[in-house]
Amino acid sequence: MLKFEKSPSEESPQPERELTPDELRKKLRDPNFLPSHKEIRKAFADWEQWMEFCFDKENPVFEFLNEEYLNALADYFVGKIQEYGASEEKPLVILEIGAGNGRLSHFLQQKLEERAPGQTKVVATDSGEWRLKRDFPVEQLKHDEAMKKYSPDIVIVSWMPYLQDSSKDIRKCPSVKEYILIGETDGGCCGDPWETWGQPWLLWDEDDEGGEKIPPYEADGFEREDLDELSDLQICRTDEPGRYRHSRTVSFKRKK
Ligand SMILES: C[S@@+](CC[C@H](N)C(=O)[O-])C[C@H]1O[C@@H](n2cnc3c(N)ncnc32)[C@H](O)[C@@H]1O
Repeated sequence: MLKFEKSPSEESPQPERELTPDELRKKLRDPNFLPSHKEIRKAFADWEQWMEFCFDKENPVFEFLNEEYLNALADYFVGKIQEYGASEEKPLVILEIGAGNGRLSHFLQQKLEERAPGQTKVVATDSGEWRLKRDFPVEQLKHDEAMKKYSPDIVIVSWMPYLQDSSKDIRKCPSVKEYILIGETDGGCCGDPWETWGQPWLLWDEDDEGGEKIPPYEADGFEREDLDELSDLQICRTDEPGRYRHSRTVSFKRKK
């Protein structure tokens, strides 16, 4: 009987070999590679490796972007297309300020295009103050200039510099319906505890009568929602391997 040999295309595909932690750490340096949560967890054996990677002077990592988080964030914004009446004729304008290397906006736009082609426009801007390397297109604009130029529906800020609050200017921008802060919250190292988060503990002094203080975002007519399902997928530089809990995603929405 004739025996036919299998052509290469008929052979069952070889399962892809899993990368070793060393290989993964090397691959994570490629800005185009969006790792999974599992791949990040696997790549770092200890605190030293983690610190070396996240606090690298050339390529600092603030938010450790991962596939699952970006998918969930994109799904969140798809919901906003309908909520804010956007369409292909009038795409939802999402402006990132302080965008650093531009990776977040890049992946977000990619995922939104897959889900709702032509219905969103994500723009990455940064003042350039920190001189971070730009891996993707980032327009050099200060946060107030960027809002003036783009009249965004939604503003995103990832890792707002410590004690520098840009949220009050975002709230003043009439087109803004919502802004999303990503990073440490409240008493953490992003933004200002009171101006950004409405945490009064730094304002208390001995003469303080302890009266009710209204958080600035509330006084400006915004309401806060902690997006816990998104936050549960986050990993950031101030976490340690195996314990991911410092970085959160919080929405501030203009009340109707
Ligand atoms: C901590 S880095 C965060 C970078 C990036 N968002 C991330 O999560 O990797 C803060 C960024 O804010 C930028 N920045 C500081 N002040 C700014 C301002 N007034 N307007 C716009 N960008 C600003 C800095 O240049 C820097 O790139």
